[in-house]
Amino acid sequence: MCEKRPMLELKGVGKTFNRGSVNEKVALKDFDLTVEEGEFLTVIGGNGAGKSTFMNVVCGTYPVDEGKIFLGGHDVTRLPEYRRAKYLGRVFQDPMMGTSPDMEIQENLALAYRRGKVRSLMPGIRKAEKEFFRTQLARLGLGLEERMTVKAGLLSGGQRQSLTLLMATLKKPDLLLLDEHTAALDPKTAAKVLAFTEEIAAENKLTTVMVTHNMADAIRCGNRLIMMQEGRIIYDVSGEEKKSLTVEDLLERFRASAGELSDRMILS
Ligand SMILES: Nc1ncnc2c1ncn2[C@@H]1O[C@H](COP(=O)(O)OP(=O)(O)OP(=O)(O)O)[C@@H](O)[C@H]1O
Ligand SMILES: [Mg+2]
Repeated sequence: MCEKRPMLELKGVGKTFNRGSVNEKVALKDFDLTVEEGEFLTVIGGNGAGKSTFMNVVCGTYPVDEGKIFLGGHDVTRLPEYRRAKYLGRVFQDPMMGTSPDMEIQENLALAYRRGKVRSLMPGIRKAEKEFFRTQLARLGLGLEERMTVKAGLLSGGQRQSLTLLMATLKKPDLLLLDEHTAALDPKTAAKVLAFTEEIAAENKLTTVMVTHNMADAIRCGNRLIMMQEGRIIYDVSGEEKKSLTVEDLLERFRASAGELSDRMILS
């Protein structure tokens, strides 16, 4: 068996917003987590449990107050967001965020494909690149390969989110971070985007962390599931035990830990 190595490690991470004010909010507390290379982790938890903050401290959007973060064995705790970006692929809930609306579909893809390279040295999009983008877009099954010169801003939410996912994985990232990336989509489109997520993660053996409020998706996708509450992990399950979970089991755990169940979680 090939030896696994940790791709993402958080050690004793703490993050408090508005410390010392009446609005003080502990978002992460003594947060410890190791995600192995190739692992697909799903993350669930009620509103305000700290899921997005977990994603944001990994990206470097917010600095941590305590603890350390390692990416591929390197200490990135003090690395600014723009220097971590080249190791990370990220897709968040808002379909408007991941793409540049005034740029063509193919220009968005080219930008993602040349990630980390100096933009002023970029030549126009080469023919070979166009062909590559066309085959990648065709995989989405949305017909975007025939619309490569259309501005991304003209696409529907589901189309833009699919494009963002493609952009995030075009150059294999060390870590793919998905924060409720299908939550704003209609059920049919959400299922399509999720299926593509699983396909691309499996094909590239991507280390993936996916936050979702849909517990059935959290059980079905990936090989490991964590449940968060008040900035901590209260349940961590993988392998056969995870596969045999039911939504009712998870609801029971929430109730047992006196967690706040959001309507979205119950209704999903
Ligand atoms: N930029 C910020 N400034 C102040 N407080 C924040 C900020 N970001 C998050 N918080 C607070 O930190 C806590 C954790 O928020 P976070 O967004 O991580 O939760 P979440 O688990 O992603 O919830 P949701 O399911 O609603 O997305 C919440 O109480 C939230 O209000
Ligand atoms: Mg969130």
